[in-house]
Amino acid sequence: MTPVRAAVLVSGGGTNLQALLDDAASPQVAIARVVSNRPDAGALDRARRAGVSTTVLRDPADPTELLAALGGADLVVLAGYLKLVPAGVVARFRWRMINIHPALLPAFGGPGLYGHKVHEAVLASGAALSGPTVHYVDEQYDHGPIIAQWPVPVRPDDTAETLAARVLAAEHRLLPRVVRALARRGEWTKPVRLGIKNLDVEIEDEP
Ligand code: GRF
Repeated sequence: MTPVRAAVLVSGGGTNLQALLDDAASPQVAIARVVSNRPDAGALDRARRAGVSTTVLRDPADPTELLAALGGADLVVLAGYLKLVPAGVVARFRWRMINIHPALLPAFGGPGLYGHKVHEAVLASGAALSGPTVHYVDEQYDHGPIIAQWPVPVRPDDTAETLAARVLAAEHRLLPRVVRALARRGEWTKPVRLGIKNLDVEIEDEP
């Protein structure tokens, strides 16, 4: 079986990229390239250490440059990528481009809601649950159809830091499972919603 070739877009430290690189249990997926808008992204070092080819974009708003960087990827994963993907690239990878966001969309997403701001907004709302969402990428930030979510509790004594750490741990579980499930499915013509059964996970009290 030919593995699905995934390209990963990054802007930051790349712990989600690392979770994908470490997912050795998945012969269906090959991380083929890592693309960053920032030359100093720690994620690039992780890619190099894993022997994956890297590209730094000169202009992330240039669709031609981004398409060339993504090469012949079957699947594009935004893992902590903070730039808007140009519409031409979204169209080329419709239902083949996914993003991970550290809250339960459609709440707590959109322009300006990234990093600790997301967790501060969740805490200010009084919500009892948070957790990562993986969704298809469309022309707006954090907006395309939801593929899967992993709820985690918000504790009364949480700070943005403690909540971020709990959500990030769930991201590292969710993202490789979603990528694997999509690769296993191997059908890219329409959006899918994945439940616990598709993801092959057990429900835990405290993910
Ligand atoms: C994660 O919380 C992800 O959901 C968000 O940015 C963060 C990236 O972390 N989009 P890392 O670079 O994968 O460590």
